[in-house]
Amino acid sequence: MRYSEELVEEVRTRNDIVDVVAGYVRLQKRGSNHWGLCPFHNEKSPSFSVSGPKQMYYCFGCGAGGNVYTFLMNYENMSFPEAIKVLADRAGVQLPEVEDGPETGQRENKRTRLLEVNKEAAKFFYYQLRTPRGTIGYQYLQKRELSDETMHKFGLGYAGKNGEELVQYLRGKGFEDELIKEAGLASHTERQGLTSQFWNRVMFPIQDINHRVIGFGGRVMGDGTPKYLNSPETPVFDKRRNLYGLNFARTARCGNIILCEGYMDVIAMHQAGFTQAVASLGTAFTPEQANLLRRYTENVLLAYDSDGAGVKAALRGIGILRDAGLAGKVINMQPYKDPDEFMKALGKEAFQERIDNAENSFFFEIRILEGQFDMNDPEEKTKFHREIAKKLCEFSEDVERDNYLQAIADKYLIGIENLRKLVNSYASQTGLAKPLERPRTGVHQKSSPEENAKKSQRLLVTWLTDEPALYGKIKKYISPEDFTEDIYRRVAERLFQDLEEENFQPAGIISMFEDENEQREVAALFNTSLPQLTTGQEREKAFHDILFAVKKNSYEYYTGQLGTDVNALKQAVEGKKALEELAKTHISLD
Ligand code: CTP
Ligand code: MN
Repeated sequence: MRYSEELVEEVRTRNDIVDVVAGYVRLQKRGSNHWGLCPFHNEKSPSFSVSGPKQMYYCFGCGAGGNVYTFLMNYENMSFPEAIKVLADRAGVQLPEVEDGPETGQRENKRTRLLEVNKEAAKFFYYQLRTPRGTIGYQYLQKRELSDETMHKFGLGYAGKNGEELVQYLRGKGFEDELIKEAGLASHTERQGLTSQFWNRVMFPIQDINHRVIGFGGRVMGDGTPKYLNSPETPVFDKRRNLYGLNFARTARCGNIILCEGYMDVIAMHQAGFTQAVASLGTAFTPEQANLLRRYTENVLLAYDSDGAGVKAALRGIGILRDAGLAGKVINMQPYKDPDEFMKALGKEAFQERIDNAENSFFFEIRILEGQFDMNDPEEKTKFHREIAKKLCEFSEDVERDNYLQAIADKYLIGIENLRKLVNSYASQTGLAKPLERPRTGVHQKSSPEENAKKSQRLLVTWLTDEPALYGKIKKYISPEDFTEDIYRRVAERLFQDLEEENFQPAGIISMFEDENEQREVAALFNTSLPQLTTGQEREKAFHDILFAVKKNSYEYYTGQLGTDVNALKQAVEGKKALEELAKTHISLD
């Protein structure tokens, strides 16, 4: 890329974040902020705040945060160039043509073209399904009990028996052969030249969360093979990072998302009103998809096939969900094979009951494990108990491990003390599992000394942002070097410089960072909850404490770096002096 920093700022300042976000989230003004239900995680009471004065959003529940660009990039899954285009249009700002480097320009352009050609192909298939020659496809879908409305909602289509028609249609729309091939829509044959990849199949366009067609799955209308043919991976079709149906499911807000195996399952579920159903894209469920789901829910229900392969896939899925910090449950589909068949046979009330009774994923794992042992044989039974103990060791939190231990001991009639001994002996052999690393900042944070130091730094930045006039009073005590966390220091450098010039735009600082996680951290810096104090005296003390804590941490940090960092000595000496002075100084907040 690069648009100039000035232009990025101009476009940003001309799009009020409150207006933009209000287009997606219902907001209510309370104090100087607007509040609503966070669109990035599931919640019942609002912890998502949008600040007009700061031109930022921040969720106190999940830690999502950023400026107006970050919001669009996260909510609409846009790239930065896409977000700036939308916002420039919205504000009537003319963007210069490809000021991007030639490479990025081409890459963005390729993505756009691929999306366009997919969209046209989807239209083509859609209309084919509704012509006399598409009747065969239409009847197949009807036989699968899909309504017209459902077919329309999912944009279902039909690829006819004449493989040249699609190509002609797309050429007529101005797409080059190369692009049509790269999208995986057609390939070359000796005899016929360029012909459609999909031939005599019902077509399932695969959409990203913004309803853009990124690829296709095509199903034979009988028992032929392969049953499904899917588009290859392309620059717009990343099978690891998208989920079928998520474009609808993400706004379903029912407190959970149901993960199925197949396209048909998703469609049948949506038709029955379970619009929270999604499926992976002809490949196994991935950690990237788990991360994606975590934006929308904490509870994932697995509705996998009830056969051996489905159970195996469910066990894998449970592990992936757990690693992503999501609670998984398993829906029992017995005696039917999959959600599609279940729905046809028993209907939605029965399915809702299965949802309500979904099995805790750990119990599911243990139940499957049980099936591998002969419980009438004491030897086998002992092995089963050992396996249980090993699995219990995977819980790093004592309380959780103990709760499961009790529940399992009850359920399988194992003496609780015996099981506990077994667990302890495995734990001492192998060490208990390490706590999961939760990639999201803001949630599940421990108050380690390091975390406390970071917290004071965040509080100071937030306070200065809220009351910029304080900067003049404290600048002799504090400098960007006192921010010991790399990203915080970079923010402080810019913030202090802006405060010095009395031109300070916290939301603009966020644009300095490209990485989504960094933007989130920076937003957190500006949005820490300040202590709610009423008297001026209390506030002054709180501010003084924060300032002192930041300085003290900095002093200790540099003292620890003596001999390894050339700046350390200077910082430590100055730090000591500043601390002594601060200790006897009163800083008025008026
Ligand atoms: N799949 C695939 N290629 C195949 C078979 C399956 O990509 N040859 C993927 C598809 O995404 C499919 C999913 O695996 O949706 C589940 O497969 P399956 O259960 O066989 O298909 P269903 O979606 O249930 O379709 P149907 O009900 O028509 O059998
Ligand atoms: Mn199936």
